[in-house]
Amino acid sequence: MKNISLDITKAAQFLNAGTVEAYEPKAKAAREALENATCAGNDFLGWLHLPSSLTPEFIAEVQACAGTLRAKCEVVVVAGIGGSYLGARAVIDALGNAFTWLVNDDRKNPNILFAGNNIGEDYLAELTDYLKGKKFGVINISKSGTTTETALTFRLLKKQCEAQRGKEEAREVIVAITDAKRGAARTCADKEGYKSFIIPDNVGGRFSVLTPVGLLPIACAGFDINKLVEGARDMEKATAPDVPFAENIAAQYAAIRQALYTQTGKKIEIIANFQPKLHYIAEWWKQLYGESEGKDHKGIFPAACDFTTDLHSMGQWIQEGERSIFETVISIETPNSHLDFPFDEENLDGLNFLAGKRVDEVNKMAELGTRLAHVDGGVPNIRISLPKLNEYYIGQLIYFFEIACGISGLMEEVNPFNQPGVEAYKKNMFALLDKPGYEAESKAIKERLANEK
Ligand code: PA5
Repeated sequence: MKNISLDITKAAQFLNAGTVEAYEPKAKAAREALENATCAGNDFLGWLHLPSSLTPEFIAEVQACAGTLRAKCEVVVVAGIGGSYLGARAVIDALGNAFTWLVNDDRKNPNILFAGNNIGEDYLAELTDYLKGKKFGVINISKSGTTTETALTFRLLKKQCEAQRGKEEAREVIVAITDAKRGAARTCADKEGYKSFIIPDNVGGRFSVLTPVGLLPIACAGFDINKLVEGARDMEKATAPDVPFAENIAAQYAAIRQALYTQTGKKIEIIANFQPKLHYIAEWWKQLYGESEGKDHKGIFPAACDFTTDLHSMGQWIQEGERSIFETVISIETPNSHLDFPFDEENLDGLNFLAGKRVDEVNKMAELGTRLAHVDGGVPNIRISLPKLNEYYIGQLIYFFEIACGISGLMEEVNPFNQPGVEAYKKNMFALLDKPGYEAESKAIKERLANEK
């Protein structure tokens, strides 16, 4: 089986010869620190050997639970935010048909909806309205079990599910994925007798897609989680500490990112795709790299574009705006479908010169043309290529990005596995809402606002 590949030549040309190679010792030290658990954040390395440690029995248990939900539900709502939903959404969107989820497709898969990731009143009202009269189930995902967005959504969905199906039947279609012991989601699951899965203590949210957090929704959607894990496992081998730097694509990606950041002032990485299905892969990647590297007033800002769509909106800035960016393109070598550019008798648009070519050939020339134009405009370009869009290669891509993120964060000399900054908004919000226990913060924030008037 082929592996995904990495081409950094169009980025390395922006650096002096030998620069990337000069990062080898740092990349190697970071990779070994992960392996030996001697790095900052070493209590959150449960993801490192996750693919090779998942047993067939565990996968079968996830599949059995997915089977129950698939049999009993026309809609499954995944309630979760951040690392508790982006991985599942990324994989399901990448592998799913762009349109059949709108109707009940002939594969008899339940529609998978994502909620619990915002506090939009209209969104939630429209969701509950949509679910009226439908046989729906809920996967409630929260590691802490206390996240406001998810807890609010779960309250609404639990009530509605029980009202529509009765308490007994609701118990069969509500699943909790949470901490082994702590948090409201655990207490509720134990009290109600829901089927539940544990998010390991040593796996942070953004690294949790290969735990039940990602695997259960993905299996519910009808995708082969064995193949996904197999791909991740093969990438685990391909990026092991004993793989030479020149062949280790994760170390190479980490090294070129750090070289561009520290030596050429490229402070923004735009991840770009030429397949709209990859939109949420980019959203997942943004969280992975943003939360891991954006600390101590350092870190490459992770941004994302969908091409060619965004070439008609962001293309001007990328081509001629401030030269603070580099670009990483995720490319799919062979599409799963076959569609030719049609011939038209009248040729009013003058495009008959393309008639008979595969649509993907046109897309690939758009991709190559864009990469060359952006490089000419001063934007270093990295390319990650997947032979096909399927479970196996998405599994490879997930592990590739995770391990490269760990290496890159350690090379940047931050703890890639914590996220202290995400608490700041929550503290203010709870103070403003007079949450019990936040009395001092409430007083301080209200005084501050009064003084600003
Ligand atoms: O990466 C993270 O830790 C966060 O994005 C969390 O996943 C997110 O805040 C959700 O947290 P929880 O799963 O505790 O509800």
